[in-house]
Amino acid sequence: MPDWDPKLYLKFAGQRGRPAEDLVAQVKLEAPQSIIDLGCGTGTSTEDLHRRWPHAQLTGLDNSAEMLGQARASHPDWTWIASTVEAWKPAQSFDLIFSNACLHWVGDHGRLFPRLLGCLSPGGALAVQMPNNFDAPPARGHGTDRNGTKVGCHSGPGHGELRHPPCRVLL
Ligand SMILES: C[S@@+](CC[C@H](N)C(=O)[O-])C[C@H]1O[C@@H](n2cnc3c(N)ncnc32)[C@H](O)[C@@H]1O
Repeated sequence: MPDWDPKLYLKFAGQRGRPAEDLVAQVKLEAPQSIIDLGCGTGTSTEDLHRRWPHAQLTGLDNSAEMLGQARASHPDWTWIASTVEAWKPAQSFDLIFSNACLHWVGDHGRLFPRLLGCLSPGGALAVQMPNNFDAPPARGHGTDRNGTKVGCHSGPGHGELRHPPCRVLL
């Protein structure tokens, strides 16, 4: 598992934010009351959710202390959970379970997705976007853009070049 760097992640917030914004826009729920953002990172995707549903109760979950620390500092009034998705055992159900660019790091999707669906309130929705390049270097480390500028959001082994992969979206 890479170490995430919130400063580096936020440096490319504009480009990185687009898939989360697109995913929020595709959710058909009118007024979900409870929303969880799995792999919320620095909280930018959680902010997208807040912009669309300002009255919803928001929870963000992430297993990176650095990323979650940034999220908590920006929105101390929201609920933040330090946990892996794998270990998460919610005490309540959610109207919307949202996850942008995280679940490709979680194994055994055959069990994961039924489990997440089981955490939804009646009529709720699961909205997921996963980059469609599970094994590509950018999913594992820093890269460089075509100008040679370092890009990426986490450190660790597996440095490589940046690509803009097609995305898989489940709703
Ligand atoms: C690419 S960032 C996406 C952040 C945010 N969803 C967004 O759209 O800006 C992926 C986040 O997933 C988190 N993550 C990766 N694997 C995870 C796991 N198994 N459980 C919880 N969080 C995980 C990382 O710590 C990181 O903050």
